Amino acid sequence: MTRNLITVDDLDRDEIERYLSLTDRFAEVMQRDLKKVPTLRGRVVVNMFFESSTRTATSFELAGKRLSADVINVKGSGSSVDKGETLKDTVLTLNAYRPDVLVIRHKSVGACAAAARYTDAAIVNAGDGTHAHPTQSLLDLYTLRRRGVSLEGLHVAYVGDVMHSRVARSGAAAFRTMGAKVTFIAPPTLLPPGLEEGLGGRASHDIRDIADADVVYVLRMQHERMGDGGFVPSLREYSREYGVGHERLRPGQLVMHPGPMNRGVEITDALADDPEVLVTAQVESGMLVRMAVLYDLIAGPAEHVRNVPVEEVAA
Ligand code: CP
Repeated sequence: MTRNLITVDDLDRDEIERYLSLTDRFAEVMQRDLKKVPTLRGRVVVNMFFESSTRTATSFELAGKRLSADVINVKGSGSSVDKGETLKDTVLTLNAYRPDVLVIRHKSVGACAAAARYTDAAIVNAGDGTHAHPTQSLLDLYTLRRRGVSLEGLHVAYVGDVMHSRVARSGAAAFRTMGAKVTFIAPPTLLPPGLEEGLGGRASHDIRDIADADVVYVLRMQHERMGDGGFVPSLREYSREYGVGHERLRPGQLVMHPGPMNRGVEITDALADDPEVLVTAQVESGMLVRMAVLYDLIAGPAEHVRNVPVEEVAA
């Protein structure tokens, strides 16, 4: 049976733990001089990015290459999508190469689930509109776990544009599955209705509530999803009311941001440049987690794979 990773809601605590443990094994491999294993030799990974990306696109590409898979990268711009080819026809076309995994980013909610109807390859959702970004949530968990932070009982405050954030939706679900508590802090216009019932976190409009959090997770203002605007009176006012800088933090609080950052809007320049902020660690975790995801979808999660050195599970 083909397995997909379309939303983190499909993963229970044991499955998330399995991904985090697998990621640890790849982190160990990446400490070596030769940072490549033959694990997925002869396998085909197609990265289909129909919406802009730096971190997710490059990390999936590098992850596939470090596992020795054949990696094909297709972007919306410069492919036949420019000529009006549909997602269905693009998937059917690339399916002719008999890929093992299709990694898809798309601006439309549900695009990855739709694509799964046209291929037997495993689908990984690399972000579909405002819906889900499951590998981002796994890399966020892994970044904290790698620093020795216990997820059980952790308090994470998402701050900013929750309305348009697939990072917050997937992250909140993953953190809650792992026993963490989540708060969403934003102006009323950027908090979707029904949030507390839907995502299970507490909603607040008061930035001072970040004081209670162990992790302050700053969200990007997603200008490209805001149309004609009207969500905030002005970016300057938003920044004054909800922007996160050192003056709003207490000692010991951890700061995360999925990138790309709008410096001077949701995060101050000084905080963005602070080496204690976890942004770069998140990027590093991204490649490791995506190695684990590709490996798991192609080679795992059969019981016999679990205790075998990752380089020995060749195709
Ligand atoms: N965090 C994230 O998804 O970044 P990219 O859009 O650069 O992939």
